[in-house]
Amino acid sequence: MCGITGYVGKRQSLPIVMDQLKRLEYRGYDSSGVALLENGSVHVLKSVGKIRALQDMVERFETQSTTGIGHTRWATHGAPSDANAHPHMDCTGRFAVVHNGIIENYLELREELQMLGHQFKSETDTEVLSHLVEELYEGDLVQTVEETIKKVHGSYAMAVVSNQAKNRIVVARNQSPLVIGLGDGEMFLASDIPAVMPYTRRVLLLEDGDVAIMERDHVEVRHGGKAVERPPFEVTWDEGSAEKAGYEHFMLKEIHEQPQVIRNTLRGRIDDEGTVHIRELEPLEEAIRGAKRVVIAACGTAYHAGCVGKLFMERMLRVPVEIDLASEFRYREPIVDEETLGIVVSQSGETADTLAALREMKGRGAKVVAVVNVVGSSIAREADVPVYTWAGPEICVASTKAYTTQLAVMYLLGLHFANVRGVALEETARLTKELETIPDCVATLMERDDEVERIAATLTEKEDFFFLGRGMDFAVSLEGALKLKEITYLHAEAYAAGEMKHGPLALISPDVPVICLVTSERLREKMISNIKEMKARGGCCLGFLLEGDLQTEQVVDSTFRLPVVDELLMPILSVVPLQMLAYFLARDLGREIDQPRNLAKSVTVE
Ligand code: AGP
Repeated sequence: MCGITGYVGKRQSLPIVMDQLKRLEYRGYDSSGVALLENGSVHVLKSVGKIRALQDMVERFETQSTTGIGHTRWATHGAPSDANAHPHMDCTGRFAVVHNGIIENYLELREELQMLGHQFKSETDTEVLSHLVEELYEGDLVQTVEETIKKVHGSYAMAVVSNQAKNRIVVARNQSPLVIGLGDGEMFLASDIPAVMPYTRRVLLLEDGDVAIMERDHVEVRHGGKAVERPPFEVTWDEGSAEKAGYEHFMLKEIHEQPQVIRNTLRGRIDDEGTVHIRELEPLEEAIRGAKRVVIAACGTAYHAGCVGKLFMERMLRVPVEIDLASEFRYREPIVDEETLGIVVSQSGETADTLAALREMKGRGAKVVAVVNVVGSSIAREADVPVYTWAGPEICVASTKAYTTQLAVMYLLGLHFANVRGVALEETARLTKELETIPDCVATLMERDDEVERIAATLTEKEDFFFLGRGMDFAVSLEGALKLKEITYLHAEAYAAGEMKHGPLALISPDVPVICLVTSERLREKMISNIKEMKARGGCCLGFLLEGDLQTEQVVDSTFRLPVVDELLMPILSVVPLQMLAYFLARDLGREIDQPRNLAKSVTVE
């Protein structure tokens, strides 16, 4: 996720483009840049780091330009750096391009363009766009952009300015958002509505496949080479809610982004034959084949994703897989050597304990894979191979989409390792097929948030909660309980259901809701016995059960029915209503959801 901005009009473009960038900083913040048209030239200013770094640069730059585009980057291809920051220029310095999305065939295009003599300056997929525009340009920029998009596969929102097209911005979109704000004698471009709202409330939303030509007094939208009508609409929301795409909190927005981001995580990692293949892992093939054991370390939510990963990989590979809290790992003299494959999991890629665990693993001779969201972060750089989760920036302190995309990568890793080691091939093929259905299953859960909202409304007087499950369900219980405590400030404890009778049962009373996860047919009978133990002590049991599980339904007090996939994949579905439960309860209690007290998004101290 990156942010694009633009302005064409009578005012100076730079202050407006910069202001819009600041409003879009939540979409990405590892580097930023602008391209300005002035006196027949294209001027590009860009800098690694937050927009503040670019601001320092532009303050020293004299300009009267009235046409400009801007970009704030969330790295995908290529680490954060000055060279990888947008805008990207062609070889002749005539065309500047900003882009949000992923050009899937960029390697092919890059090779072709290099053969034709184009010189690349960055590692980004975007740079192929500026060179393609240069290659295809025959005097008409609009036609050139139309030809360019025919050659690229993937997702893009792009904007081009050129000294060949004065007072014009040409834009195109496919699967990445792009809006045009319609002013009086001026036009504004942005990835999201909040960035145009201070200037105009009349907005035009581009559709996939659209190309638009923005000029001071006119915007023309074209589709398939022909002019089309895109009726503008009036924005009536306030700015704050627009930034959250109309959601009340970033957490809710991020919960709802999950179908799309899980799709992004899987994209390009399952080949046409339906086999998982993670290209980045090719250099580690020998280590994967020869590993005698796997060791995982992480903190918080990422640790919980590791717990699911452990169970999954053990089932697939039949080798011991250990999971450790990163903060404990290096203090217990871990048994790690050259025959160990290490995995660390981190959204931010900067968690101090996880980074230390990674160094400990490497120091003992293990090859280490990092499951990480932030491109170019310390953990991504220090691991032997980073496997990115592609969740996009997560703003809410409480992880939601970071967790489910970590789970998706855990599954991909387990399936990839099984393929490399030539084990459980039939099961691998079946699970891969099922994994591809997960984004749609998650999407169906999004439509049922009202059911969870009703459950939450019955719990606002409660102060203690238990989350129970067995196997994978226990791993998910840990995450459900963490979500609840961090944003509601209520006490919640996750327990392996079979352990309750060894002590915690003493805490069960009608005032303590027990969230019971039952998603394994194999373990159902055992869970029913445990639920009955709670009921006999007056416990109120809320079941999160498989669709069609009438047996468990009879023993619980209320039921949320989950779509059914293989039990190994259930965590990526069953966690979603638990995220929503924490969210609705915290909202009903009036908590500070996106920035809960005492917590920080990235914990860079031990
Ligand atoms: C969970 O909601 C928290 N944000 C926290 O537990 C987090 O998962 C933990 O601090 C690890 O962070 P990381 O993934 O950035 O390493």
